Amino acid sequence: MKPTAPDYFYSIPPYVPGKPLEELEREYGITDSIKLASNENPLGPSPKAMQAVEHAITNLHRYPDGAAPELMAGLASKMGCKISQIVLGNGSDEVIDMLAKVYLNAGDEALMTEPSFMMYTISTLAQGAKAVKIPLTRDFRHDFEAMARAITPRTKIIFLNSPQNPGGTTITQEEFEPFLEKVDPSIVVVMDEAYIEFNRDPQAVTGLDYLNADHTVVTLRTFSKLYGLAGLRIGFGVMPEHASQMLGRIRPPFNINIPAQAGAAAALEDTEFVAKTLQTVHSGLDYLYHALQDMDVTCCPTQANFFMIDLGRDAREVYEALLYKGVIIRPLGSYGFDNHIRVTVGLPHENERFVRAFKEVMAAL
Ligand SMILES: Cc1ncc(COP(=O)(O)O)c(C=O)c1O
Repeated sequence: MKPTAPDYFYSIPPYVPGKPLEELEREYGITDSIKLASNENPLGPSPKAMQAVEHAITNLHRYPDGAAPELMAGLASKMGCKISQIVLGNGSDEVIDMLAKVYLNAGDEALMTEPSFMMYTISTLAQGAKAVKIPLTRDFRHDFEAMARAITPRTKIIFLNSPQNPGGTTITQEEFEPFLEKVDPSIVVVMDEAYIEFNRDPQAVTGLDYLNADHTVVTLRTFSKLYGLAGLRIGFGVMPEHASQMLGRIRPPFNINIPAQAGAAAALEDTEFVAKTLQTVHSGLDYLYHALQDMDVTCCPTQANFFMIDLGRDAREVYEALLYKGVIIRPLGSYGFDNHIRVTVGLPHENERFVRAFKEVMAAL
């Protein structure tokens, strides 16, 4: 007889990642393809981080220092918080998972938008808890009124995401504060800000401003996007000490490896790379917007390094046709948007290649 997992494990949906470049080239027999599917940094990794990682590998025979003192000091100064309020994760994915482990019991509820980042659902269901999903509004914003109505005595975590993936919208102070007033302070409010550094909307709030509020507001950030370190796997949460202490009880002691600690600490200092990334993403977004507007395509406003396009038809065909041209984007069927694709901003030549391929595909359909 095979060992069995708890019943609720069978309802966990598999995570659908963006198609890897190597897989596309192998399957379609093409070369020189481009990937604009996983919201990665088009410039590659921060050069300062690469240098630090190279240096750090001479210590790979050692266990990492779980306290990650250099990185924690850099983060506390950058986030304007205490070291004791930060929890590091193997990607912010792992902080999401730790939050679910600490705060969700079987039968509890976690509230989130529909669609939302898959890891909220996966980590919630893995606890035997229920993922309660509230559709985004028509303009892809959080429907805070409906979310407030959906809170029950079983609600233990509320996952908010700003800028929202895949919608690209941010949460404003006007939206957030009246909502927070309706939330019982025993509920953990998570502000996932994986893309916040790309935001250009002055109305957007950050959870960091509510770190010392009566509510438990947890802000999630990552090194995967702005700093180009998705492959190193490092993210973090900023939260009140009562929460960081609880997460500290289950955090694997060596979850941030030596190269990741060194790379992340160096990336924080790489102001030149950060400025270049922001410039590349913002000018790329502006270029793509105009090019798509000229095509009369519905392109949703965004504050992230990606945007959604409403094709007004099944997106799968467009996705497949783009693959044949060596361009990988993300069809959003797995997010429940059958007619939408999500495109990550690339380098100028990649953006131009996408526009060219997209025009050809749309003309041929
Ligand atoms: C909204 C959102 N949150 C969190 C993450 C996870 O980031 P990390 O690479 O730090 O695990 C992603 C990654 O794509 C994301 O889109």
